[in-house]
Amino acid sequence: MILVTGGAGFIGSNFVLDWLACSDEPVLNLDALTYAGNLRNLASLDGNPKHLFVHGDIGDRTVVAELLARHRPRAVLNFAAESHVDRSISGPEAFLRTNVMGTLNLLESVRQHWSALPEAERAAFRFLQVSTDEVYGSLAPDAPAFTELHRYEPNSPYAASKASADHLVRAWHHTYRLPVLTTNCSNNYGPFHFPEKLIPLMIVNALAGKPLPVYGDGMQVRDWLYVGDHCRAIRTVLERGVPGEHYNVGGWNEQANIDIVRQVCALLDEMQPDPAGPRSRLITHVTDRPGHDRRYAIDARRIERELGWRPQETFASGLRRTVRWYLDHADWVRDVQSGAYREWVAQQYGARA
Ligand code: NAD
Ligand code: DAU
Repeated sequence: MILVTGGAGFIGSNFVLDWLACSDEPVLNLDALTYAGNLRNLASLDGNPKHLFVHGDIGDRTVVAELLARHRPRAVLNFAAESHVDRSISGPEAFLRTNVMGTLNLLESVRQHWSALPEAERAAFRFLQVSTDEVYGSLAPDAPAFTELHRYEPNSPYAASKASADHLVRAWHHTYRLPVLTTNCSNNYGPFHFPEKLIPLMIVNALAGKPLPVYGDGMQVRDWLYVGDHCRAIRTVLERGVPGEHYNVGGWNEQANIDIVRQVCALLDEMQPDPAGPRSRLITHVTDRPGHDRRYAIDARRIERELGWRPQETFASGLRRTVRWYLDHADWVRDVQSGAYREWVAQQYGARA
C-alpha cells in the first residue's frame, strides 16, 4: 500500500480518489483534519476496504511510526501542509509547525522505518514531497519560466516554509540516502478546492451576488493546472522518477488573475444567468496582498521529456468542468462555509479597501 498524508484536502483527496479509480493498491490516508481537511471529499469511498483513514498529525512520531510498522507502505506521499498564502501572512506559526517541523518529524519517522527494511524493500521505497512553484519566487514579465535549476527565492511565509521542507527532504537524501522525489507544481484548480483560493472563492461569491475581490490591479500571472493532471503527474513521478530529483509540473497556461475572474463570470452567466446582470459587475479591486509575487510560470519540459507526462485538460474544458462541479455541489459548498470560514472571510476582506 501507499501512505498519503493530507489526503482529505483539495489535492490529496483528488489524488486518493484518482488512485483508487485506477489501481487496486490500498491507500492509508493520514490527515489532521484542519479547517482545510474534509472527509466529505472522500464520501464516495465509504465502506471501501482499500481506503484506510487515520486522523492524525504528520508531526506525531508515535502515530507515524506505528502506522509504518503495521502497514509497511512501499511509499509515503506528503501532501499535508498549511497551503494558503494569505493565512501565512496573518499567522505564519502554523506554517512552520506543519510544513517545516511536521515534515522534519515525518522524515525522521520514515528514515527510522526505512533504514531497518530488508534490502529489496529499502531499494524500492520512495518518499515523495509535494511542493510548489512558489519556492522559486517571482518572475519578471519577460523572464523564462522556472526550470528545476532555478534557485529557491521564496517570498511569502508559506513559500519559505515549503522551501525549508524541500531543503530538509534534499538533505535526507544526500545525508541518509533516503530515496526521495520532489514535485514543484503550479496553481491547481478543480473539484473540492476550498473557497479561500481564487477560483472557488470567485465562484461562490459570484453565485451569492457578493463582491469579487481582486488584489491590486489583477495583472499578477499564475500558471493554472487542472488538479487531475497534477495527480497523474505525481503518480508518474512516483513510478518512474529518479530518487533525489525534482520535477516541475505545470499547465503551460499563464493567465492574469483578472482574466481568470472574467472567465469564471462568463461561465456562470452562461450556465446559471443572474437576473441582476452580468457577474463581472461584482468585480472589486481591493488592497494588494503584501509581498505579492507578480508572476509564476513553470517550464515542464523535463517531466515530459524524461517521464512522458503532459497535461491533458485544456483550461477551457477544466474551468468549465470546475464551475459545473460547484453548481452541482451546493451542499458541499454550504458545508465548508462554516462559522470558521465566515470568520476568516470577515478578517481577510473586512478591512480591505
Ligand atoms: P489543502 O490546504 O487543501 O489541504 C491540506 C491538507 O493537509 C488538509 O486535509 C489538512 O487537514 C492536512 N493537514 C494540515 N496539517 C496537517 C498535519 N500537521 N498533519 C496531517 N495533515 C495535515 O492543500 P492543497 O491545496 O490540497 O495542497 C496539498 C499540497 O500540495 C500542499 O503541500 C501544497 O503546498 C501543495 N501544492 C498545492 C498547490 C495548489 O495550487 N493548491 C500547488 C502546488 C503544490
Ligand atoms: O503556485 C502554487 C500555489 O498556488 C500553491 O503552492 C498554494 O498552496 C496555492 O494556494 C496557490 O497559491 P496562490 O497564492 O497563487 O493562490 P490563491 O488562489 O490564493 O491566489 C491566486 C492569485 O489570485 C494570487 O495572485 C492572489 C490572487 N487573489 C487571491 C484571492 C484569494 C485575489 O486577487 N483575490 C483573492 O481574494
